Amino acid sequence: MSFVPAHEIVQRAYRDGYAVGAFNVNNMEIVQAIIEAAEAERAPVILQASQGAIKYAGIRYIVALARTAAEAASVPVALHLDHGTDFEQVMACIRYGFSSVMYDGSHHPLEENIAETARIVEIAHAVGVSVEGEIGRLVGIEDDIAVSELEAALTDPEQAARFARETGIDFMAVAFGTRHGFYKGEPRLDFDRLRRIRELVSIPIVMHGGSGVPDSHVRKAIELGVAKINIDTELRHAFVTAARQVMEARPDEIDPRKILGPGRDAMRERVREKIRLFGSAGKA
Ligand code: G3H
Ligand code: ZN
Repeated sequence: MSFVPAHEIVQRAYRDGYAVGAFNVNNMEIVQAIIEAAEAERAPVILQASQGAIKYAGIRYIVALARTAAEAASVPVALHLDHGTDFEQVMACIRYGFSSVMYDGSHHPLEENIAETARIVEIAHAVGVSVEGEIGRLVGIEDDIAVSELEAALTDPEQAARFARETGIDFMAVAFGTRHGFYKGEPRLDFDRLRRIRELVSIPIVMHGGSGVPDSHVRKAIELGVAKINIDTELRHAFVTAARQVMEARPDEIDPRKILGPGRDAMRERVREKIRLFGSAGKA
């Protein structure tokens, strides 16, 4: 299959009460691990590349790796730009064949974020590419953050409704207490805020910073409208831990396949667990 637009699989997940996993990629083994997991679980899946991944691997490699995997796969696969922060990067991804893009204008004032996101939506939709926007800044709810600072960073539900309406985005990343990377202790998520956003907004919600969020919180977030969940850190951890084990057990090993192969296998199993947790197993 060629890439599907992400909104097709995310919209269906939103309607039917599950979430599609969006997993970060930057090399061949990672792409293979995710696709093998999606095939094994019969799940739709999103491969996503950050600007850093594109810089590391090169956009042609990212697209070629993902396209090769998608064409051989029997499950729907989307290729998505994760946290695109400038117009040119988003346009380059559309030109090279991504089926979905995120424009992250969350650090700009609201008016600017709306205007730039809407401009990107108009262009992307004209060529059948899905768009994710972001409103609110990702800050974990932790004791050492002042309440006023936290309030300012988390997504305001009324603003989220306006942002969705005026930009025409397909799905929306919001801040309700998740953060990128591992958490210090258990994350505390603001589900009341998420519920209010759900009441005012009728498009799927994206949860960033999915690594380390307890399973029960993930299920609750899905009940409250989250239909795309981004996971990166936990997958890297699984991959590198397995590769490191090989290198520690056999310091003379010089065959990269014998180091990266176990990393790929470990990552595949972690992706399978996430797919089952998100409820997308068997939905392809
Ligand atoms: O955009 C990517 C994600 O939000 C990944 O977050 O590394 O905490 O899983 P994570
Ligand atoms: Zn993110």
